[in-house]
Amino acid sequence: MSEKLLQVRNLTVHADDVLLVRGVDLAVDRGGSLGIVGESGSGKSLTCRSVLGILPQGTANGPGTEIVFDGTDLGGLDRSGWSAVRGSRIGAVFQDPGSYLNPSITVGRQLAEVLRVRTGLGRRAARERAVELFAQMGLRDPAGVHRQYPFELSGGMLQRVLIAIAISGDPDLLIADEATTALDVTVQAEVLDLLADLRGRTGLALVLVSHDLAVVAQVCDEVVVMREGVIVERGRPDDVLRDPQHDYTRLLVDAHARYGVERFRGAHV
Ligand SMILES: Nc1ncnc2c1ncn2[C@@H]1O[C@H](COP(=O)(O)OP(=O)(O)OP(=O)(O)O)[C@@H](O)[C@H]1O
Ligand SMILES: [Mg+2]
Repeated sequence: MSEKLLQVRNLTVHADDVLLVRGVDLAVDRGGSLGIVGESGSGKSLTCRSVLGILPQGTANGPGTEIVFDGTDLGGLDRSGWSAVRGSRIGAVFQDPGSYLNPSITVGRQLAEVLRVRTGLGRRAARERAVELFAQMGLRDPAGVHRQYPFELSGGMLQRVLIAIAISGDPDLLIADEATTALDVTVQAEVLDLLADLRGRTGLALVLVSHDLAVVAQVCDEVVVMREGVIVERGRPDDVLRDPQHDYTRLLVDAHARYGVERFRGAHV
């Protein structure tokens, strides 16, 4: 058994001869949490998608890339190997939860179907487990939510449904790529609390991607800062926030401080 749950070494992603991600090294402990921050286009999602084996068409990992999850080299997996890892051992949630759900099927049935496939539960047991998971996600009236269609739920509720689906196979690692970015500040904080709570209760490890260093600081033990496809800084989020070493990180921290002040003012006008 390898020491780290996830160990990524020299990750590169290219589109033809353009290098989009270069030489990324990162690691996540069992039950640990890593934040990835950086401006739009810095390579955060391509890094996550590499770990999930779902790179967009036209992009690929370079030959020196090494991604080892719980002792398994993911680069060597075939289709069936991936299906035993993605969704089961590594769950994922993305921005825009609405687009990942079928609009014409109740959210409860969608979760129950995933449970039946992933855990082999029968119809009734899957329904009961789905309601239980909705309750654990902090959804009030979980039995009522079970019967609702995606359009009947708010963005925050939909994201909780997606998190329930992502963790339904009891994964060891959850990758949340901008999962709270589209939510308003209060709902974002609630969903972050939920993720922190899940970590505490289940020992789930977390990779959390955000534009916002302060968001990462709330939930993660370690952060890497990406810019133009490379990691420019890494450390404990509080240290990085307090004393950023790289010019770019300083800009991120300053921008957040300014934005934070405006948000504060806005709340009191
Ligand atoms: N299929 C593709 N073909 C070519 N270039 C791509 C492709 N997908 C992404 N890129 C480029 O790779 C770079 C990194 O993209 P990525 O989606 O990882 O950024 P990101 O840090 O997640 O940004 P955001 O914060 O906007 O989500 C960007 O410049 C993007 O334009
Ligand atoms: Mg992205």
